[in-house]
Amino acid sequence: MELLRILMMALHILCAAILVGGALAWRFGSTPGIQLLEAETRRKVDNAIAAAWRPAVLTAIVAILLTGIFNLVTGGPRTPRFHMVFGIKMLLALHVFAVTVLATRADNPRRARQLTGVVISGVVIVILSVVLRWV
Ligand code: HEM
Repeated sequence: MELLRILMMALHILCAAILVGGALAWRFGSTPGIQLLEAETRRKVDNAIAAAWRPAVLTAIVAILLTGIFNLVTGGPRTPRFHMVFGIKMLLALHVFAVTVLATRADNPRRARQLTGVVISGVVIVILSVVLRWV
């Protein structure tokens, strides 16, 4: 059981790294890089990146939900403070899931702004997740 808990938490953190790190690299690495391209080529390349990244996003969302529920039910007794911080984390997680999926849609002029929002929420979630250990 201990080993399973370690594996599930490792998978949870790996999926968090994929979602938040992926949005960060896309927004602040790839997006400025493709600004050098001519408009039509830029549109095609950005759409190709979005289409290639989408399966990773969908897989990470499903896995983070399953491992998160597992972590929750196997984690032992919780304090009211835990539930308060956890509730805020869930609202932000819903934001990350929904907006990341939207950002991977083709021909999306709001993509850069959406990814910025995902990065901000993602960083706050990681901080709240560490806080959960102490409340
Ligand atoms: C973008 C979404 C999410 C991110 C970035 C994220 C990130 C993290 C990280 C980094 C940890 C490890 C914290 C530590 O080691 O102290 C963690 C723990 C945890 N996560 Fe998530 N998580 C997300 C979504 C979810 C969801 C959807 C659930 C539940 C359905 C969940 C439930 C949990 C639980 C229960 C823990 C263990 C908390 C504890 O007992 O200390 N997470 N999360």
